[in-house]
Amino acid sequence: LREHEEFTKVKNIATIELGRYEIETWYFSPFPPEYNDCVKLYFCEFCLNFMKRKEQLQRHMKKCDLKHPPGDEIYRSGTLSMFEVDGKKNKIYGQNLCYLAKLFLDHKTLYYDVDLFLFYVLCECDDRGCHMVGYFSKEKHSEESYNLACILTLPPYQRKGYGKFLIAFSYELSKKEGKVGTPERPLSDLGLLSYRGYWTRVLLDILKKHKGNISIKELSDMTAIKAEDILTTLQSLELIQYRKGQHVICADPKVLDRHLKAAGRGGLEVDVSKLIWTPYK
Ligand code: ACO
Ligand code: ZN
Repeated sequence: LREHEEFTKVKNIATIELGRYEIETWYFSPFPPEYNDCVKLYFCEFCLNFMKRKEQLQRHMKKCDLKHPPGDEIYRSGTLSMFEVDGKKNKIYGQNLCYLAKLFLDHKTLYYDVDLFLFYVLCECDDRGCHMVGYFSKEKHSEESYNLACILTLPPYQRKGYGKFLIAFSYELSKKEGKVGTPERPLSDLGLLSYRGYWTRVLLDILKKHKGNISIKELSDMTAIKAEDILTTLQSLELIQYRKGQHVICADPKVLDRHLKAAGRGGLEVDVSKLIWTPYK
């Protein structure tokens, strides 16, 4: 796969049709060779099977009986639902999702080993079904304490707060596991912006409310954010001083307020009381 990608980094698929959207793609994705001559692909928005022609999709839609991603609905709040898909139980779906996602993800190698991953697929639901807005993947077991491998908000849904919702959700899962987590590196520019935004908002909110001293370790325990990520975030906000060989948080209320004003919208909140989930064993 590496070789194939290295030699054919030209983008072949220029647009995709997915549900009611026609979406322009961003990057190369290594679809099977029989799709090499295609400039447009037609996706079933529910099972994510892809086809070369519109008529094929129309025929497919008549017989496809999925109205939401396969797997368990683990969260529902209003019209927003999250489904957990096990790559081992739903291999084809997992592969289709990876092909689709790669169209918008640079410098990420495609995993054919979808067995090892869980996919968290976020949907907006209406009477026609549950429409995917984005997803993140997560290794079932990570040595490096990664709590997220890849994250994507589909372009028509970007900049509405779904990215931060997905990030927040990944940390809620880590809290339930009693572990700290961090996203797999490298992060894309947009990925870094979104994470920086999330970390900043979460940490500032706590520091604002908290009375007295607080350590990075305590912040990490409260948020499931890895200590290194807390340190770099607070350093970039100039809230860290180095005293007697130790990093100390200096949360001057005026500085906090200035940062909070600049931090912008909080985004869509994860309502933890609506998350019904137990960690993967
Ligand atoms: N320009 C400037 N800032 C942006 C942009 C943009 N186009 N998009 C997001 N941001 C920043 C903003 O700070 C924004 O917060 P704000 O709107 O309050 O200012 C913040 O990121 C998050 O915005 P959301 O609306 O919550 O995020 P969105 O739903 O757009 O999703 C995501 C962010 C997932 C990174 C999306 O841009 C995407 O799917 N990109 C393509 C795939 C990708 O790069 N994924 C990350 C790869 S790294 C990894 O997978 C570990
Ligand atoms: Zn289908």
